[in-house]
Formats: sequence, structure tokens, C-alpha cells
Amino acid sequence: MQSEWACAVFEDTFGKAAELVVEAPGRVNLIGEHTDYSDGFVMPAALPYGVSLAARATDGPSRLYSVARGWAKSFQVAEVEPGSTRGWANYAAGMAWALRQAGMPVDTNAEVVVANDLPIGAGVSSSAAMEVAFGWLWLTLSGFPVDPLQVARIAQTCENQYVGVNCGLMDMAASALGVDGHALLMDIRTMEVQPVPVPDDLVLMLCDTGRRRGLVGSAYNDRRASVERAAATLGVSHLRDVTEEQLEAQAASLNEEDLRRARHVVAESARVHQMAAALRADDRDQMGALMQASHDSLRDLFEVSCEELDAMAEIARAAPGCIGARMTGAGFGGACVALVTEQDVPNYVERVSEAYGQRFPDRESVFLAARASRGAGIGYDFR
Ligand code: GLA
Repeated sequence: MQSEWACAVFEDTFGKAAELVVEAPGRVNLIGEHTDYSDGFVMPAALPYGVSLAARATDGPSRLYSVARGWAKSFQVAEVEPGSTRGWANYAAGMAWALRQAGMPVDTNAEVVVANDLPIGAGVSSSAAMEVAFGWLWLTLSGFPVDPLQVARIAQTCENQYVGVNCGLMDMAASALGVDGHALLMDIRTMEVQPVPVPDDLVLMLCDTGRRRGLVGSAYNDRRASVERAAATLGVSHLRDVTEEQLEAQAASLNEEDLRRARHVVAESARVHQMAAALRADDRDQMGALMQASHDSLRDLFEVSCEELDAMAEIARAAPGCIGARMTGAGFGGACVALVTEQDVPNYVERVSEAYGQRFPDRESVFLAARASRGAGIGYDFR
């Protein structure tokens, strides 16, 4: 991450040294897509890329400068309310507001520089990383203890109620709880988290299609409404409580679209456990088969893929060194994730970017090879 850069920009911008550095990673989801808001299972991994904050407490109002986006309007952490800030400052101010709602009235303002090395719009949760980072920052400056899971939950409140996006808990939890070298098998209902080791010679390859996620807000909410309706019709609070057998036995009670959505959620949640078993047994054929089944289901049943994601997944899968590939994140653009053997990475990127470029000459694909990484914290790279 870019902490040293954030510190250098801080000194240039505010004329003194930063006193605190916070880092929060983005995430890639290995499997378990569109299952978190059904209280189901997911398996994200934190990335070695994310948001870095260089900061210093101040007696004046909070002043935030983003390396990518410039200045935000200043605000008082103890006073912000939904609607009182705009744009990217919502993630920072919204966390102060959400912490207050949760009984932690943070009141220490800060001067902050924000640096971000995640590709924006690729579906790797730069907004969740920003929220988690600011959660850590406000709590630390005001002298509250930091509980990573609690920060993740508060970040979800911020996103749902302050920013106004109705997302689940996965992205923030992955950013807050990441473990080096491990994907995280998460039960979103209980928030029991089991780190599952990713074999040492495999890298997580992010293959960004270059197509930005235009439709995502309304389509995401439609999908949510559909699975909530399905759960209500089946008489359960969340689809988490339904097995494949139970769903099929009651299939006739659902409309055709809700049934397709529900079939995806129930099978996808089960695939998360199968993937954990495959990773633990180092069964690479099974990893590949599960990633493919996940992609196909997101394309055909949940209908959140797009031409670029389908092509990228197919090309990524066919290139030498690939164990498996699928779209990752909310869909409608963004990136695929592939598991690739490390020794093949240089040729792999060349092959895949060339083949994808031939299909979509106007899209700028981006490839990032990553190891699963630790979650948010104070000044890792900075020490
Ligand atoms: C987005 C949301 C997550 C999750 C994924 C789909 O990333 O923020 O909560 O629902 O989409 O798995």
C-alpha cells in the first residue's frame, strides 16, 4: 500500500509530519457471491492493495485531502449527519456518524491525506476499505479500543444508512479481518471466521475487464428484493435457512425469476464449504470446477454477469497455469478472479491480456497478482 506516499503528501500539504498511519485493504471474493445478504457463506481474501491514511489530530475542523480526488469540504466529526457531506468524504464522515450511533462518540478532528492503490470500479471494495480505515482512525484518535469485527459492522451501517448503498457485510469484514496467506470462510450469520490457507504456489490474479459497474445500484437492489421475497414466500428470515432439497420441494410456490435467484444463493453458499475442503485438500480440479459452477450460476441464474466478464472468465480459464476463474464482486462489470500458479504469472498476464484485447479493443484491462493479505491496522508499511 501507499503509506509512505501518503505521509510524503501529508507533509507537503499540511507542512508538518503525520502522527498516525492507518491501512485498510480491498478484497477479492474467491467464492460465495451474492450470498452475504441472505445470511449465507462467503470466502473473500484481503488484498495487499488498499487505502492508506496519513493523519494528525487537530483542534480545527477535519480537513481531508485525497491524492486522487483533491480536497473534501471540511467537517466536524462530532456533528456530521447524513446529507451534511458529499462524494468520497461520505465514507470518512459517515464512519464518524455511524460510530456515534453505535455508542462511540468520536470527537477528535484530524487532518488527513488519503492514498488508494486499488483500481476504482473494479469491484475490489475501495469504499469498504475507506470506511474501515476511517473507523480505525477516528477510534484511535479519540482513544477508543478498536475491535475489527465491530468496525466492519459499523462500516456496513455507514454504507447502508449514510452513503445509501444497501450492501452486505462481506467487503468490510474482509478488509477488517484479513489473514496473511489465507482466504476467509465466513458465516455471515454468526460471523464465525475460519482462515483457509491458499496453497503457497498459487496467486490470486485479479483480471479487471475495464468495464465499469454502471448498473450496479438498482440491479443490486432488485436482486436483494428478489431473494428477500423468496425467503418470505418460503417462510424463513433468510435463504440461509433453506436447503437445496427444501427449495426444490417448494419450487412451485415461487415465481420463475425468484426461483432462479434462490437456486443460485442456496447452491453458491454450499459451494463455499466445498471450496474450503478443496483448498485444504489441495484438490485443484475441484477448485476449478467450483469456480466455474459459480460463474455459470451468476451468469445464468442470478444474471449479474456481462459479456466482458464472461469472456474474461473464459480466456482466464483457458490460459496455461490457471486453476480456476470466475467473476468476482457484485457484477455488471468489474473483475474476474483467477487462481494461477506463480511460475506461470508473467506469461499468463501476457496471454490473457492479449486475447481479451483482441475481443474488446476498447476496454483497458488491468491485471494484479496478489497474495491473500492481513486486514486493516495501524501503519504496517510505515514502521
Ligand atoms: C458487493 C456487496 C457485497 C456482496 C457482493 C456480492 O460487493 O458490497 O456485500 O453482496 O456485492 O457478493
